[in-house]
Amino acid sequence: MKIRFIKSATVNYIDPTTAIRYAEELGSILTRVIAYTMQIRQAHWCTKGMSFSGVHPLYDEVYEHLADAQDLIAERIVQLGFPTRASYDHLAKILGQTYCADTLNVGFGEKEYLDITVRMGQELSGAFHTFIESFAKEENISADILIEVGRQLDKDLWKLQAHLEGPKLN
Ligand SMILES: [Fe+2]
Repeated sequence: MKIRFIKSATVNYIDPTTAIRYAEELGSILTRVIAYTMQIRQAHWCTKGMSFSGVHPLYDEVYEHLADAQDLIAERIVQLGFPTRASYDHLAKILGQTYCADTLNVGFGEKEYLDITVRMGQELSGAFHTFIESFAKEENISADILIEVGRQLDKDLWKLQAHLEGPKLN
């Protein structure tokens, strides 16, 4: 079924003819944030090994930040006058091919989960930067939201990466 993407009336300064570009880009980023959030959960639940006491609660902390990020981005899309596209069937269609082969591997150990999680986070950080670079002048509020959530994402990546470099991983 084709998904309809229809602008509804909103009261803000955004030109309706350009708002769709921002909403589509933010929608793509939202999908990736949701995928990363689930990866963080998967990694939290599958943590094993000597670093458990540090890594397991850190994943929980990152999850909370990402849940807030999802809400900020999704609500900005709605403020731009477009619906969010975070339904299960949409996510399955968009993300199924991209991430499943990697992230559903139940045989992974702690290091493999950290590796793939940090890599996904790096890619997401790159997507934030691309949006900010492209739209900061014309859609500064969306860019500001991504600066805010990107600042936290990068900080969390720094913490996760620290565990990759420690001596205790299996
Ligand atoms: Fe838990």
